[in-house]
Amino acid sequence: MKFELKSPENERASIQVPSEIAHLSKPFNGVLCSQEGDEYEVTNNIIDILGKDPSFSSVASYTNHWKLTAHIYEDIWRKRSLSLLTGEDFPIEKEHELLIEWTAPKEGGLYLDLGCSTALYGRALKAAQKKADIVALDFSMQMLEEARLKAEADETDLFFVRADGKEMPFFSKTFDGIVMGGTLNELTDEMKVLYDARRVLKEDGKLFMMHLIKSDAWYGRLLQESMGLGGLKFWTKKESNKLFEQAGFGIEEQITRGIVCFTLLKVQ
Ligand SMILES: C[S@@+](CC[C@H](N)C(=O)[O-])C[C@H]1O[C@@H](n2cnc3c(N)ncnc32)[C@H](O)[C@@H]1O
Repeated sequence: MKFELKSPENERASIQVPSEIAHLSKPFNGVLCSQEGDEYEVTNNIIDILGKDPSFSSVASYTNHWKLTAHIYEDIWRKRSLSLLTGEDFPIEKEHELLIEWTAPKEGGLYLDLGCSTALYGRALKAAQKKADIVALDFSMQMLEEARLKAEADETDLFFVRADGKEMPFFSKTFDGIVMGGTLNELTDEMKVLYDARRVLKEDGKLFMMHLIKSDAWYGRLLQESMGLGGLKFWTKKESNKLFEQAGFGIEEQITRGIVCFTLLKVQ
């Protein structure tokens, strides 16, 4: 598959990405170069567009850059989190079923796991549609390194890009679908990321969003307020839908369980 990135230095210049970068059984190290000559390092198949650590504006974004957080995140927290947050038995398989049903990855399609952490969604998409290509993007190198280990262990080929979701290195209308699991609550500038997601999505593309909404219970709100100090944000369903609409999305499907909200967004 021909996959290209948009140079952050010159928005008309492309960076051609060789397909073997996604073949994780073969380590790829080197440099990718745009048509204008700007260069980006590739270390162990991870394309680094940022080149430096982002400035940390919250505890949540700081801890995502720890190796320990990356290492324990998926197995200790992520796979059990929805049963705790929905208040019902919600195994990861159930979440994956919904992800695949709504995203419906197609043969030859290109999909983006935005704020991928360990690329749980990206791996699930590839497992469901081997003939699709998946790009997993995060600004934390530690998360991407862990994601790469997990994908290689699963024999799943993914493209890994280290970049900021606010200014993604992709041309407009690149992706057939975008998936975002829990990332919205951690963003410092959610509107910029939503606008950029809208930009890089094709006209008939869909965005699968899982995010946490404000709790109705007083003790839930108290907990969420204290989490707010660490940089996590929560909105009511109505407030979240307003954000989506402001960014140019329409709501195609929506399900809420406890404080977990699943939404399928379409381009308006
Ligand atoms: C809650 S985790 C995502 C979990 C993952 N999507 C899943 O389903 O398991 C949020 C991730 O978003 C990343 N992130 C936060 N802000 C970002 C930004 N501006 N650009 C890129 N990644 C970002 C963090 O590094 C973190 O790995």
